[in-house]
Amino acid sequence: MLSCEENGLLTRTGPGTAMGEVMRRYWVPALLAREIAEPDGPPVRVRVLGENLVAFRDSEDRIGLLDEYCPHRRASLWFGRNEECGLRCVYHGWKFAVDGSCVDQMKEPEENQFKHKVRLTAYPTRAREFGASRPREAIPAARNRDRNSSARHRLGYRRGPC
Ligand code: FES
Repeated sequence: MLSCEENGLLTRTGPGTAMGEVMRRYWVPALLAREIAEPDGPPVRVRVLGENLVAFRDSEDRIGLLDEYCPHRRASLWFGRNEECGLRCVYHGWKFAVDGSCVDQMKEPEENQFKHKVRLTAYPTRAREFGASRPREAIPAARNRDRNSSARHRLGYRRGPC
C-alpha cells in the first residue's frame, strides 16, 4: 500500500511537481482543433495537468497555448483580444505572441518599455489527427459523437522550447 507521500508523488501533476515534470515531456491532447478553427477568433480556456491555459490561433494560423493569466496584473487572457498576430490583454493592453513573448505594451511610453524582459509560459503545439482502428460500433457511445468524421483533430502540447 502506498504511503500518503508516495500517493502524492504519483498523482500530483501540477506545475513544479515531479509527476508534472514527467508528464510535460510527452505530447498531451489538449483540445479539438475546431475549437480554435478561425485565425484571430476568440481564445479558449484549457485546463491540462492542473494548469490553466488559453489556446488561440493567430492571424498567420499559428497556434498558441499560453498561461491564462497576464504577468502584469494577472488578468485572464481568456478575455483578451486575438488580433494581428497576438493575444492582447484587455486590462492594460500588453500583447503576447504564440511563443509567449510580450510584443507590445501599448500604454507604456516607448522609452520605458521593457517588453523584451516579459515572457509568458508557452507550450509548443501540434495539430494531429486521431483515427479509430476499431469498427465504429465497437467505440463507446461517449467517444462516437462525431458520426460524420472518421478522424478527430486534437491539439497536443508538451513542455519544451517554442
Ligand atoms: S493585466 Fe494584462 S496588461 Fe495589465
